[in-house]
Amino acid sequence: MQFPQKSASREEITPRITDAISRDANWRGGKIFSLVYFAGDDVADVLKEAYTTAFYTNGLGPGAFKSLKKFESEVISMTGDLLHHPEAAGNMTSGGTESILMAVKTARDWARAEKEIAHPQIIVPVTAHPAFDKAAHYLDVDIVHTPLRDDLRADVDAIRRAITDNTVLVAGSAPCYPFGVIDPIAEIAGLAAGRGVLCHVDACLGAYLLPFIERLGYAVPPWDFRVPGVTSISADLHKYGYSARGASVVLYRDRDVRRHQFFAVSDWPGGLYGSPTLAGSRPGGAIAAAWAVLNFLGVEGYTRLARVIMDTTAALIEGINDIPQLKVLGRPEMSVFAFASGSLDVYAVADALDEAGWHPDRQQLPPSLHCMVTPVHDTIVQPFLSDLRRATEYVAENGAVSTGRAATYGMLDKMSDRAAVRNVVLDSIDRLTGAKRDPAARD
Ligand SMILES: Cc1ncc(COP(=O)(O)O)c(C=O)c1O
Repeated sequence: MQFPQKSASREEITPRITDAISRDANWRGGKIFSLVYFAGDDVADVLKEAYTTAFYTNGLGPGAFKSLKKFESEVISMTGDLLHHPEAAGNMTSGGTESILMAVKTARDWARAEKEIAHPQIIVPVTAHPAFDKAAHYLDVDIVHTPLRDDLRADVDAIRRAITDNTVLVAGSAPCYPFGVIDPIAEIAGLAAGRGVLCHVDACLGAYLLPFIERLGYAVPPWDFRVPGVTSISADLHKYGYSARGASVVLYRDRDVRRHQFFAVSDWPGGLYGSPTLAGSRPGGAIAAAWAVLNFLGVEGYTRLARVIMDTTAALIEGINDIPQLKVLGRPEMSVFAFASGSLDVYAVADALDEAGWHPDRQQLPPSLHCMVTPVHDTIVQPFLSDLRRATEYVAENGAVSTGRAATYGMLDKMSDRAAVRNVVLDSIDRLTGAKRDPAARD
């Protein structure tokens, strides 16, 4: 497509956007199990109003936008309060990946300054989010992946064995994405403290849900700042905080440690430059919307939504475990879980679900399907379970449906050459944008 020569009217543009979006996955109808965390039209209206009111503001300039300075500070202290350390120092970032990137950078630079570690290493369980790998890759830090115990939680003995003099950070998840279980944070943090190493808890998923299910009386193992030795936490507002996309918080127990996250340049002709996180300009809309939703919902609203989510999760898990060929993996504490099959190809079941209009997320090692339950799933429990039962019975009797995706996933899962699999992924990213024009195509 060429750069447009002529201006187009709003009346021409808006329908083109609405039309394109109307063909996206039906997240409002609960057909997808990730990516969108919709908490209802009342929440959406508050978010949109806050976002559009602050639309042109820029978090890079707290002097000009004192409003954002106030909103960001208050989001951080509200989150610190929720996670039992009101004095925590922190910043808002664009999402979980940036929060984790910042925690790893902070650990790297803290260890350089305090311990003169030249070749830093971080240790994470295999279930930790790839954001840690991305951080290690970008920041030139070594990363060691440790195995899990039988209950799919991090094996603390394996972490203990992996720690060296170069270790700067160990991490656990609350909960981890693949299986929704919480790592033994108290043990990991105790180990880290004993070795003088920082400990990050990735609570991107759990930070704004676990405190409320704890209030509802669910058993939640300790994972937040109440655990001595936890030095930083990532908490995603745009997941179970229900905020607009582009909002997360990274918190530190100790303000002096947080200072290693910052970046400043003092001799640039453009002036003195300082920035707390990775981004330069930062969308004020995301900051204002986060502040708005925390105030709009409060403990009351978040607890109400948590109840809906937990009841829905329990019904889904029970229904899935009732299907003889399927089984939910481990004992997930929250609203995130995976299910697998010992007897049939679960990727073929996913293909059959695709045909019924669902968008199941495929996982590997082992092959399983993944669900993140949000308030919209309240209305789909029975339709989803009956389609899942039908899909499973179909695959048990007939094998795979015709889409062929199962064959691809099955092949990639089994390939021992993981570098080749990485290349398949890189190729598919390459195809996402700037596709080469088909020379045979006509206008
Ligand atoms: C546990 C966990 N950590 C980190 C992330 C990364 O968050 P984001 O996609 O907002 O960068 C995710 C995303 O799903 C996650 O589930």
